[in-house]
Amino acid sequence: MYVNTFSVSALIMDVQRGHCWRCEKVLPQLTVPCSRCNIAVYCSTPCLGNDTARHSSVECQMFGPQRCGNCEKTAPNMKECAGCSNAWYCSKECQRTDWKSHKPSCRAAEDSMKRAAKALCQQRSATYKISGNFPYYIGNIFARDFLQLEDNELTSGVKENSLARDYHILSAGCGNLRNTVLTAASLPDEYHGKLYISLDDFDPFVMARNVLFLFMLVRFADTDYIASSLTTIWYSLHIYKREYDLIKTSLDELTQMSAQQLHDTTKGLVSVLDKDLRCLCQVWERWQSLECQRDQKTSVNLKQQRNALFGTDILMREGVPFYLAELSKNEKKRMREWFDHALFLPSESRKSAVPFDNPTLTGRDSDCWYDDFTPIVPKDHQFVYCINTDAFPFREWDCLRVRECSSGSFTSPMEMYHSYVTNLLKKVRRLIVQERLFVHVFLDNCLVFPERHQSLQMTNYDRIITSNLADIVGFARLLQTFKPLLNASNRFSVIITETMNWFKFIPEADTDSMLCPRQRIQGCNDAYSIDCNRLRFPGHNNTRDYFNNTPQFLQYLRADIMAGGLGIPSLKEVPSFESVKKYHGLQMRDFRKGQNKLVPFQYRLNARILNMMNGYDRAVEWCLPQSSA
Ligand SMILES: C[S@@+](CC[C@H](N)C(=O)[O-])C[C@H]1O[C@@H](n2cnc3c(N)ncnc32)[C@H](O)[C@@H]1O
Ligand SMILES: [Zn+2]
Ligand SMILES: [Zn+2]
Ligand SMILES: [Zn+2]
Ligand SMILES: [Zn+2]
Repeated sequence: MYVNTFSVSALIMDVQRGHCWRCEKVLPQLTVPCSRCNIAVYCSTPCLGNDTARHSSVECQMFGPQRCGNCEKTAPNMKECAGCSNAWYCSKECQRTDWKSHKPSCRAAEDSMKRAAKALCQQRSATYKISGNFPYYIGNIFARDFLQLEDNELTSGVKENSLARDYHILSAGCGNLRNTVLTAASLPDEYHGKLYISLDDFDPFVMARNVLFLFMLVRFADTDYIASSLTTIWYSLHIYKREYDLIKTSLDELTQMSAQQLHDTTKGLVSVLDKDLRCLCQVWERWQSLECQRDQKTSVNLKQQRNALFGTDILMREGVPFYLAELSKNEKKRMREWFDHALFLPSESRKSAVPFDNPTLTGRDSDCWYDDFTPIVPKDHQFVYCINTDAFPFREWDCLRVRECSSGSFTSPMEMYHSYVTNLLKKVRRLIVQERLFVHVFLDNCLVFPERHQSLQMTNYDRIITSNLADIVGFARLLQTFKPLLNASNRFSVIITETMNWFKFIPEADTDSMLCPRQRIQGCNDAYSIDCNRLRFPGHNNTRDYFNNTPQFLQYLRADIMAGGLGIPSLKEVPSFESVKKYHGLQMRDFRKGQNKLVPFQYRLNARILNMMNGYDRAVEWCLPQSSA
């Protein structure tokens, strides 16, 4: 059946609006929708057929009509069991009749939520310490465009106003610059306002790298190679002399500057408080003093350090061959090279001799423990190679978008990615030259950021992005902290929260867990082999694509709010999902109705083999009530 429809909502899934849910090509006039949920759309009947195994096991269950747990009738607007969020009924009578048989699983879900809340509460009441991680020079979640005006402000009101006004964004626990870069580079051509981004992260190593990169973009804006060089410096283990000299010159200048001078030389691009600058300076001075010439005896020898790190990481050593096995022949060869050498160079490079180690890939050891209110003192640390083995460029950028932006003529994934990031940086440079991008840098614990914001009398935000800080501080504390900072006069203002660790607290949600029913795991394996046309091998994450664990995710949210933590008392009873959706006077965008407007609730893994995702990330968006449209 071909009908004339277009996907209504912007971000029902991780497929771009107006594209086929299977092949990702632009939809033709006549499209084929899934007849069950009427939400998935395809360019053709074959695409619909090919996607059935995948789509029917996850989103169709989430978006489509539910089946009554008693009479098995299927209809939209079924009533959900408020106890477990995992059973549906067409009527009160049906619910009553089914209660006897539903009761055990409903009670088990309640127990599971209480257990999770207790564990979360304990984790948060222990002196909050963060550690065991290297600095996030390279992140582990996709870069996001935080504005997406086309699907937000530009969908209503006077378009011209939305294209002319300024936008303010707060990125709390910002990690590296990838989100700043993607957001700035994705502004529509017709937009002519200014973009103000506040970056907050308490890690001076990460922030020193961010400020260095921003400085370099301005300082060398008049060269035609800075964007490409910066991409190399962002990711490559070894660099050419040109890149090394760029770093050296920049560090020599930066370490001599006051905050005011930095602000003035960058024409306002970088604002940083003097106390923070002094801390960043400690990182820069150490990078300055490292011996990076690889042929010197006293050199830092990043290659050796990296090999040692991989050598002790069993998970990675075993995981990489599985990952490579899924790739095409050429990709496999190239990616193996990347795992061996970590060179990340533009297409025109000779790879034979890259004479310098990249000092910006060094920093504190992952063994460092620090609590949230004691600042890290960089100069107390030995500077070592510090990139997490699981953090790599191919994880940071959605490979579907990268491919889409590439002409297809690249000989390797590295070159394709290099060119993609370079192009983004060129767009950012243009914005900087036009003096339309302003970045405020804060080395604060995000929980005290509102005080800083108030003391500096800064403007409220149209977007507040909190990375996966919810995993560390909990939803309750996060939402209470940042709600007052939202721009109430913009109905598209939103707080974005993400979680990656939720699986650990609701074990039924994970196909790897002993508590996951065998039958469901088998179902996922079967769906995988139909969908990808091959057998699943052990240790392989990608069967998570076929496991609808959204009911378990709702249970997690309820348990997390129940736990409170960090100054917020825990609740006596498990809160209903309805009350969680209205937590603290906010309005959650219901991801089960496809209401997310900025970050997809969940991503498909098998569509993105190159990204080597684990399928754990979930994104939830919260807005002020009048802006819930
Ligand atoms: C939550 S971590 C996780 C990494 C993130 N998924 C990424 O890919 O960048 C992100 C950043 O938050 C920072 N962070 C953690 N707790 C923080 C806090 N309480 N205040 C400010 N920054 C924090 C870390 O230093 C890290 O750079
Ligand atoms: Zn298609
Ligand atoms: Zn469907
Ligand atoms: Zn019924
Ligand atoms: Zn129930």
